[in-house]
Amino acid sequence: MKFSIKPKKNRLDQVVAWLSEEYEQPGASFYSNRTIIQNAFQNRHFHCVTNGSKTLAFCVFEIFGDYSILHIAAVDHRIRGRGVGAFLVKNHLSYLAKNNVFAVWLECQPTSSVPFWHGMKFQNFPEHYDDFHEQIKMYRPTTKITAYSEVEGNAGILKLWDCEPYQSENVLPRWSWPLHEKQGRLLAPIVHPANRNWNIAWHKNGLTVAEGKVKYFCAQTRHPATFLILRELPDISMVA
Ligand SMILES: CC(C)(COP(=O)(O)OP(=O)(O)OC[C@H]1O[C@@H](n2cnc3c(N)ncnc32)[C@H](O)[C@@H]1OP(=O)(O)O)[C@@H](O)C(=O)NCCC(=O)NCCS
Repeated sequence: MKFSIKPKKNRLDQVVAWLSEEYEQPGASFYSNRTIIQNAFQNRHFHCVTNGSKTLAFCVFEIFGDYSILHIAAVDHRIRGRGVGAFLVKNHLSYLAKNNVFAVWLECQPTSSVPFWHGMKFQNFPEHYDDFHEQIKMYRPTTKITAYSEVEGNAGILKLWDCEPYQSENVLPRWSWPLHEKQGRLLAPIVHPANRNWNIAWHKNGLTVAEGKVKYFCAQTRHPATFLILRELPDISMVA
């Protein structure tokens, strides 16, 4: 099997053909998403798995700076359950990691694929992340990250609440990470889903270095944030 990041048009045609075949059968098919798939192909946001002349699987994605969305992933309906999906996702994740994309998320539709994504080490988003959304949302980092801990690193500790600053008084943080840095860079990035209005704090030696909403906390999260992604010590210049 081969993983292709710049497939030729005939690969797209084969995918659309087997999605169309599947559409004739009971159950879900991404054939109704063919325009999205074709557009993604034009924009080089289409990866596939091939075996000789056959196209076995594909995925469609979008990259937003240092995180990405996996919009669609599917294997030819005749050969599911034989390791092709795992091969596709592993190769896609290493492509992202090599291109400085630190996290990927997806909406699990159909929900029958939830066990597959769990097997690929995807995790559910925290429950309060987005209370208006009904789809199952999952994510995973593409690289080794700093693990949760309540012990301070050489640059202190980062604490994240799953509520806004005005709700966080006398409430314990939900997650925390040690800040281990060398020349301003973290030894391993911190990657976590974070609502842009949640409270976040940087403490060092018992003092608060900075505290505020995620969206003001660091340069990387000034855009509509899905993730907190820190590779360097937080830029606190924007914190109110
Ligand atoms: C979901 C999908 C991409 C998985 O690809 P696949 O080639 O069938 O899966 P693989 O054979 O690589 O499976 C990898 C592992 O996941 C497990 N797995 C796959 N599908 C599963 C399912 N529906 N339920 C439980 N486990 C599943 C396999 O048993 C295997 O486990 P193992 O590593 O312990 O042996 C494929 O089934 C598919 O195209 N489904 C329809 C489209 C779809 O649901 N896409 C997901 C959109 S969110």
